[in-house]
Amino acid sequence: MEIPAESWYKAISLRHSQRKYSGEIPDESVTSSIENVCAEFTPFPSVRSVVVREPANDVFKGAVGQYFFKVTKAPYYIAFIGDMTETNVQACAGYTGEGVILEATALGLNTCWVGGFYKREAVLKQIDLKDDEKLIAITPFGYSEEEKDRVGKSAKPYRRKSLDKLISRGKIGDIKWVKSAVEAAKIAPSAANRQPWRFEINDDSITVSANSKRKGIGVSRGLDCGIAMLHLELGALVNGVNGDWKFLDYPEVARYKIN
Ligand SMILES: Cc1cc2nc3c(=O)[nH]c(=O)nc-3n(C[C@H](O)[C@H](O)[C@H](O)COP(=O)(O)O)c2cc1C
Repeated sequence: MEIPAESWYKAISLRHSQRKYSGEIPDESVTSSIENVCAEFTPFPSVRSVVVREPANDVFKGAVGQYFFKVTKAPYYIAFIGDMTETNVQACAGYTGEGVILEATALGLNTCWVGGFYKREAVLKQIDLKDDEKLIAITPFGYSEEEKDRVGKSAKPYRRKSLDKLISRGKIGDIKWVKSAVEAAKIAPSAANRQPWRFEINDDSITVSANSKRKGIGVSRGLDCGIAMLHLELGALVNGVNGDWKFLDYPEVARYKIN
């Protein structure tokens, strides 16, 4: 499937993690659109996304971890599954899952990446995994109770690091696609909002690396970096700049080289 750059790019700044849902079941046409994007947005053969048309109550029961709010009343959820024998599977899952999440956002749904604090056993009762597959993350989807309270209010700001902390080498200068790409990547979601991505800017490429100074929290930094990769690419695409990703050795994750 070709990336719908304009609509996903627009969705980037509408997406915020939502944990309190209204319980309202999305229309059949909306849920089928999500199922379609799960089936069609498969840029890497090692990752698949599956819609689970079951309330995620048991999946989130008591599972909060370091998060203050647990997910409640989500009518449905999506499971992101990876073949663990493949390399770069975490980054591939982040990239793929974020595409599905941005499509959901564009359709007016709310979501929340959940990487660690949910009950895997409860999900595994509702989906089947093949031999080498593992559940990498899930997201509830539905309509947020919190968002309803915000109707008519100004856009919610993102708590994020400044670009000078994220750019490890090189400068944005006055290159429009680079500015748009790193700004879109900057507001990507990450586990515990740790924003592990760092960007090295060269004339015809941007390299994404993972900063690993902070203690691990049981969720791969590669997963976060994969999410930022999609945002970065969308920022380039809306400026008419196409490129290709090449995966690299950790702590570098991947390089986007323009065509
Ligand atoms: C890979 C990943 C795992 C996450 N895991 C959880 C989680 O277990 N529980 C939770 O409530 N939020 C989780 N989040 C949501 C983050 O806390 C959230 O994205 C971050 O604080 C930034 O806020 P925003 O998404 O509203 O921009 C996760 C996000 C990502 C990307």
